[in-house]
Amino acid sequence: MAAPIYQPASHAGIITLRKDLDLSSEQLNGLLDLTHPVKQFRQRYASALKGRYLSLLFEKPSLRTRVTFELAIKQLGGDCITQTGMIGEREALKDVARNLARWTDAIVARTFAQDTIDELARWSGIPVINALSDLYHPCQALADMFTLKEHFGRLRGLKLAYVGDGNNVAHSLMLCCSRLGIHFSVATPAGYEPNAAGVAQAREFAAESAAQIEITRNPEEAVNSAHAVYTDVWASMGQECEAEERKKLFAPYQVNEALLDHARKDVLFMHCLPAKRGLEVTDAVMESPQSIAFEQAENRLHVQKALLLMMLQ
Ligand code: CP
Ligand code: NVA
Repeated sequence: MAAPIYQPASHAGIITLRKDLDLSSEQLNGLLDLTHPVKQFRQRYASALKGRYLSLLFEKPSLRTRVTFELAIKQLGGDCITQTGMIGEREALKDVARNLARWTDAIVARTFAQDTIDELARWSGIPVINALSDLYHPCQALADMFTLKEHFGRLRGLKLAYVGDGNNVAHSLMLCCSRLGIHFSVATPAGYEPNAAGVAQAREFAAESAAQIEITRNPEEAVNSAHAVYTDVWASMGQECEAEERKKLFAPYQVNEALLDHARKDVLFMHCLPAKRGLEVTDAVMESPQSIAFEQAENRLHVQKALLLMMLQ
């Protein structure tokens, strides 16, 4: 039988960011190091990706991710096209992937299923960046690591507490922290812990980086002596029908001033945004000087520029 015309792409030599696990500790540290000059000396990189084009695909809504990727590629001298809607509905996913690879240099995709991102990478043969899936949000975690480094001048030995739903953001934070030697403590209601495979992987990384991973039901225990406390929405995109039920279940996990009293005096508050004030966080905490949520949002731009340079230059 003749060989099939199209073979799935091999990923040898291509850096993808399908999930946090795709970056080694060295690449992760290299990326954070590169983000500093990218942020400080914008003009130096103004034509670094001239003539390069990105495909941005969104199955779910976005403010920060869409704006920061569009700006990132344009500020680097390149350009992009943005598509919204389900990927692989009108034609096979593997055909979408191979079309986009003929016209553009990399794909940035926000999807429901993680499989969609894996398949885009497999069939396109070009770098694919996960712009959030149901399982991971690596670009957010990278910006968060950079933001912590800006504040503390180091990462190793810090303690980050995550309170709320063990979701995509929690998974990516846990994997980044465990790689970088940051103690990660997560408090969730029963049944909403980060997934077991992610925890096992994080514990392996932690054994190498000397980080500690703590999973608890008790938010006060999680935030005890934390340098930063992080939360995210209780119902993620795609879980809207569970929002009411989750409101009751997650109420004891709200990040408010009383909870932050159990952390360090100078604790920082972090949120990937969008935030639902009055649910996972109070308005007072969001608006307090401890809140660095908008710095995190700003740094999405800088860290993604560094990521594009790393992948496409
Ligand atoms: N934090 C984040 O990814 O925001 P968007 O959903 O607005 O892109
Ligand atoms: N966990 C949230 C993150 C949004 C940036 C969601 O998936 O909706």
